[in-house]
Amino acid sequence: MLKGKTAVVTGGSRGIGEAIAYKLASLGANIAVIYAGNATAAESVCEKCKQQHGVEARAYQCNVADFSAVKETVAKIKADFGTAQILVNNAGITRDGLLAMMKEEDFDAVLDTNLKGAFNMIRHMAGMFIRGREGCIINITSVAGMMGNAGQCNYSASKAGLIGLTKSAAKELAPKGIRCNAVAPGFIATDMTGNQADNPLLNMIPLGKMGETEDVADAVAYLTTAKYVTGEVLRVDGGIAI
Ligand code: NAI
Repeated sequence: MLKGKTAVVTGGSRGIGEAIAYKLASLGANIAVIYAGNATAAESVCEKCKQQHGVEARAYQCNVADFSAVKETVAKIKADFGTAQILVNNAGITRDGLLAMMKEEDFDAVLDTNLKGAFNMIRHMAGMFIRGREGCIINITSVAGMMGNAGQCNYSASKAGLIGLTKSAAKELAPKGIRCNAVAPGFIATDMTGNQADNPLLNMIPLGKMGETEDVADAVAYLTTAKYVTGEVLRVDGGIAI
């Protein structure tokens, strides 16, 4: 389905990003994994994509919050793959804390990675998409950006901002044949969420359990081929934000 296409997945070395890399590779896409620090994990994701799905896969260390570093990394990806058609902005962090006591650096770090990071990637990849008259951008937001969450004002603000970015990019880039959508996961079992066995919020999920990384990857795969869907926010949350 995605044979001959190249997908860039930020934060693709673990968790949801790792599952997205495998899913898109399973559909035939070549994969560029952008990771923050763990080269061994990123290389192992690439090896698995190559061995199990016969696609090309390479890892790039890059802090998505750094405008110039993203520019250089996108240039390397272009040199290695020729071009790319799919961008998944998945890299994200949390620095939770109560609003009245939150440190300025914790607010800034979350906004810089989760929101500005996605802007940096879109900003530097848009030229490739426009020249190819083809592009599919998928931003991984969160139900926290739709509902708000006590103790996560920085994270919720970054994820709500990502929804605004998604809708504006969708309108602006549609005439160039580029779609931009968001996926909003609820509680997904990963390193970021840790052990949630005793979390009372689990009782508020209508489907009664946490989601799996593959559930989010399936939604991303759908959006890569949903050729008449743009500016949408697709919840993958077991119904928690209904
Ligand atoms: P994770 O912590 O397991 O993985 C995050 C990935 O982002 C890691 O590979 C990390 O290296 C990368 N990353 C972080 N900062 C970076 C930077 N500055 N530059 C480049 N890469 C960077 O997290 P998880 O759970 O897999 O989450 C992935 C995305 O899904 C995040 O955007 C998160 O906010 C979102 N999400 C996760 C939910 C969950 O329940 N796990 C729920 C809703 C949204």
